[in-house]
Amino acid sequence: MDSRASVQARYEEILERFLFAPGTPEAELELAAAFELGRSLVCGKASPDDIVALHQEAVGHIARRHPTLLLGQIAGRLDQPLLELTMAHGMAFREQLDHRIQELVRREQASKLEALGTLSAGIAHDFNNIVGCILGFAEMAGDDLPAGSRGQGHVEQIVQACFRARDLVARMLTYARQTPEKTRRLNVAEQVREILAILAASLAPKLRVEFSDESGQACIQASPGQIHQVVMNLCLNAADAMLHEGLIQIRLQPAARCADAPPGHRDDLCLQITDSGPGMSPAVQARAFEPFFTTKAPHGSGLGLSVTQGIVHQLGGEITLNSRSEGPETGTTFRIYLPIDHSAPPGPGEAP
Ligand SMILES: Nc1ncnc2c1ncn2[C@@H]1O[C@H](COP(=O)(O)OP(=O)(O)OP(=O)(O)O)[C@@H](O)[C@H]1O
Ligand SMILES: [Mg+2]
Repeated sequence: MDSRASVQARYEEILERFLFAPGTPEAELELAAAFELGRSLVCGKASPDDIVALHQEAVGHIARRHPTLLLGQIAGRLDQPLLELTMAHGMAFREQLDHRIQELVRREQASKLEALGTLSAGIAHDFNNIVGCILGFAEMAGDDLPAGSRGQGHVEQIVQACFRARDLVARMLTYARQTPEKTRRLNVAEQVREILAILAASLAPKLRVEFSDESGQACIQASPGQIHQVVMNLCLNAADAMLHEGLIQIRLQPAARCADAPPGHRDDLCLQITDSGPGMSPAVQARAFEPFFTTKAPHGSGLGLSVTQGIVHQLGGEITLNSRSEGPETGTTFRIYLPIDHSAPPGPGEAP
């Protein structure tokens, strides 16, 4: 960081050059330099009072160096650099403040998710014991029944349901971050097609889903369950928003084609889900990813988006939200950016 004396010297240089070159291209450069200095002063924690003191001191020094000029004249001509300096300082200060507020909100959300994780880990643990008990007795009951009987068929259904319940428990534990989910090289387009086939059965007849795949077979590192949850949550939200009629557009494309890809994700794969629903007001958008935030009480749990965001972050990706709730064209777009797996695909016979 610059010392007070070197900042003072730099500012004086800027002012002095500006003083003797008003209205020239050089003066514009000095104004830009004053602007830059204003921004950098925020990092040095300078207050607005410091800036006024800096300016007054600089004007005083310049007046002493140029006794032929009147102090009032000098001060009058140097208003413009002061304005640039102050403006840049104010803007940068505001940015820092916004950033700090966002960080606080993010931390609060993380702590809510952590509490939820602990809770679900506890429930999952107890649930696992109960399922284990049902499974054990069901298997014993199946062994006691005559082979091929109806009763044995029913017991077999119970056993299968128990295995599904165990799967669910494994997912809850993953959510609680007790066991990391096993990821593998995954073709996202294939996964989306599978999910859409399942989803089609549960959507209202007038709700249409279009999928355009421009991914060029790009793969990512994830588990099928993670992608399943992400796509399902977003499609179900879209369907909820549109009630009975409308269009859900899903698009898979390189992030380089998305104008607003966040920094660090421009080489990712982008999964975009757009609906033609009523959109979200700015107030709803601000809280949409918050755990337990829902406008669908008492049916919604408010966990869909926070879980989705958690998964996307776990995969090293990012999720963005754009929504319009006013004007003729309302609707919502979620974009999910996921790092592409550039490793060579496994050869025949190799594990994926
Ligand atoms: N596509 C969308 N269009 C309009 N509003 C949406 C959309 N997606 C989410 N929302 C808003 O964000 C809120 C939070 O969504 P989230 O998926 O986290 O919870 P939920 O859908 O209310 O409940 P859950 O998914 O747990 O059943 C929703 O209640 C809704 O107000
Ligand atoms: Mg939801």
